[in-house]
Amino acid sequence: MKKQLLSGVCIFLFISTLQAHCERTPIYLDETQPIEQRIEDALSRMTLEEKIAMIHAQAKFSSPGVARLGIPEIWCTDGPHGIRPEVLWDEWEQAKWTNDSCTAFPALTCLAATWDPQISLLYGKSIGEEARYRNKSILLGPGVNIYRTPLNGRNFEYMGEDPYLASKMVVPYIQGVQSNGVAACVKHYALNNNEKNRHTTNVIVDDRALHEIYLPAFKAAVQEGNVWSIMGSYNLYKNQHCCHNQYLLNDILKKEWGFDGVVISDWGGVHDTDQAITNGLDLEFGSWTNGLTNGTSNAYNNYYMADPYLKRIKLEQVGTKELDDKIRRILRLIFRTTMNRNRPYGSFATPEHFMAARSIGEQGIVLLQNKNNVLPINIAKTKKIAVIGENAIKMMTVGGGSSSLKALHEISPLEGIKSRLKNKVEIVYARGYVGDSSNEYNGVITRQNLKDNRSAKELIDEAIKISQDADYVIFIGGLNKSAGQDCEDADRKGIELPYNQDKVIEALSTVNKNVIVVNISGNAIAMPWVKKVPAIIQAWFLGSEAGNALASILVGDVNPSGKLPFTFPAKLEHVGAHKLNSYPGVKRENSSIIDERYNESIYVGYRWMEKEHIKPLFAFGHGLSYTTFKYGKPSISTTQMTTSDTLTITIPITNIGKREGAEVVQLYIADKKSSLPRPIKELKGFQKVQLAPGETQYVSFIVDQNSLSYFNDTLHKWIAEAGEFEAIIGSSSEEIKARINFELK
Ligand code: GLC
Repeated sequence: MKKQLLSGVCIFLFISTLQAHCERTPIYLDETQPIEQRIEDALSRMTLEEKIAMIHAQAKFSSPGVARLGIPEIWCTDGPHGIRPEVLWDEWEQAKWTNDSCTAFPALTCLAATWDPQISLLYGKSIGEEARYRNKSILLGPGVNIYRTPLNGRNFEYMGEDPYLASKMVVPYIQGVQSNGVAACVKHYALNNNEKNRHTTNVIVDDRALHEIYLPAFKAAVQEGNVWSIMGSYNLYKNQHCCHNQYLLNDILKKEWGFDGVVISDWGGVHDTDQAITNGLDLEFGSWTNGLTNGTSNAYNNYYMADPYLKRIKLEQVGTKELDDKIRRILRLIFRTTMNRNRPYGSFATPEHFMAARSIGEQGIVLLQNKNNVLPINIAKTKKIAVIGENAIKMMTVGGGSSSLKALHEISPLEGIKSRLKNKVEIVYARGYVGDSSNEYNGVITRQNLKDNRSAKELIDEAIKISQDADYVIFIGGLNKSAGQDCEDADRKGIELPYNQDKVIEALSTVNKNVIVVNISGNAIAMPWVKKVPAIIQAWFLGSEAGNALASILVGDVNPSGKLPFTFPAKLEHVGAHKLNSYPGVKRENSSIIDERYNESIYVGYRWMEKEHIKPLFAFGHGLSYTTFKYGKPSISTTQMTTSDTLTITIPITNIGKREGAEVVQLYIADKKSSLPRPIKELKGFQKVQLAPGETQYVSFIVDQNSLSYFNDTLHKWIAEAGEFEAIIGSSSEEIKARINFELK
């Protein structure tokens, strides 16, 4: 009896403790509680040491959670075009895992060239699924630094020269990524517009250019995309490194824009403990303090926001207010990602993702020139095609810096053309030139042996030989991902094609009238042969499905609909940054700092060309189709609007050709008279419409106060000034189809 009583009592005690314990589930672990309460609860349970540990890296791409409380660590992954292969704990070197070969999506210049926010949503969702499947908390992308100079090595990772286009295209990407419970990390904030001297350049730029050109895409990412993290850039602004910058991080990002996420340093972007504490940095990665380059064992304790910070607190030199704000932000990101039990599970290197990569490529490829409608290739009438050029075979998903990938597969342009025309057309190939024969980056190898010791003459002679009797010659060249081309941490020296490609193209044009030049690059190039070839295609770094996407366009399975997200200047000195000698800046006396004054101010890209009446080689927003679109007469809902209302402009577009196609209708606004100088016109709207042959659609644009405003730097605010405005509708910034005037009362 006694025993039974005793065991009954034990069971009762056990259940009640268990129950009590269940009732006492900590708020931070309780999904039903609001995130802000979970944050406060978790914060209250953390020790000082745990907080200090949480705000800096523990490994190359990871920072600690709180193991004692069951708060998971954070894992970051590059990059904007796909999930980087795993590296060793504290090295850049490959971990050589065998389960991390990903989908390589097209570069973001290609995404921008689609001018289609729906495609951007597909991109973000797909790459976010891959990051989620690989259990990453933060995807270190997208990048939206403005295309200020065609020499910038990293333009291929960004979304072009226009702040409105970049703003509209970055938001859906972020929403797509974050729908997987993975944080996007918009970068590099801010003014990182060239790679040369990127760690030591102090950018000097007027407030109008800062707010009208360089910040809008970041502001949209925060206020419309609700981005959960942002990466500070390496360069300086107002003499402070952007990773701990009072103006950019505290005044603008956190106060003015209300950013509630995490500011992450670029890898090695932190240089000062006191500034890191007070100037808005939340999470420090990649520092090289005390020999981190060779990964000494206790290196992470030596981070600027590690022991040095802890010491300052223990000596009561600083309080914990800033520290708690950093922790709140990091916990918020954790509760939005790894501690959000409802997030999806993702997927990796799936047929759907490869199809997404292919359609992004097909939608982004730009048909620049198509004389005598030489394209699309008429398969029935074609016996032989000669494909020439190193970029027809060179793997482009490897290299370029931190966006380099280990793709599960990459269909080269030659492979894509061969598989599409198999048993239909004879395809012959010649190298044409030898450029970069390396096949490895950070330990990722392409298994290609591109070594070729033949002379330039031998290579050209071979190309000529196979091209003479071909129905078409497809020259596939451009840039690549090697240093000094489209690659991080260095810029190009000029805009000419490297490796004597111009000579090859000229030679080919003398022996065949149907030379199609396919330029694979993330940057504009000079084209001295532009009048000697009938067709030119701007084919970006297209990722895993490169060859299939390109082949679809060449043979007309897909009608090209891409539009340039940046201007192709005929010469470098036609670009403001170079005409005004502001790039790459001037080194200070007895200092490593280089001051780079953005003398062209708001006149970047087509804004500069139009101000200076310079004709570009190919204009911003330019892109041809295999069909023809006719623009009808525009109508306007009113010719008088006030700042509190809007007006609508509608224009009919008809496909008068024989095949379906998509057109990007662009709306530019010209402020006819303003108290501060403004560009002749600025992009303020665009819509991509699919039209069947003969179909007409009415495209409407809403014009509101934002469409008319400029940033008044003396009042430090956006102003829409009363007066005459002109709405300019075009199929590019230079192909104007309609104009309509209205007045702002
Ligand atoms: C690099 C890049 C940044 C990247 C990071 C981690 O230097 O600037 O874009 O995400 O370091 O690789």
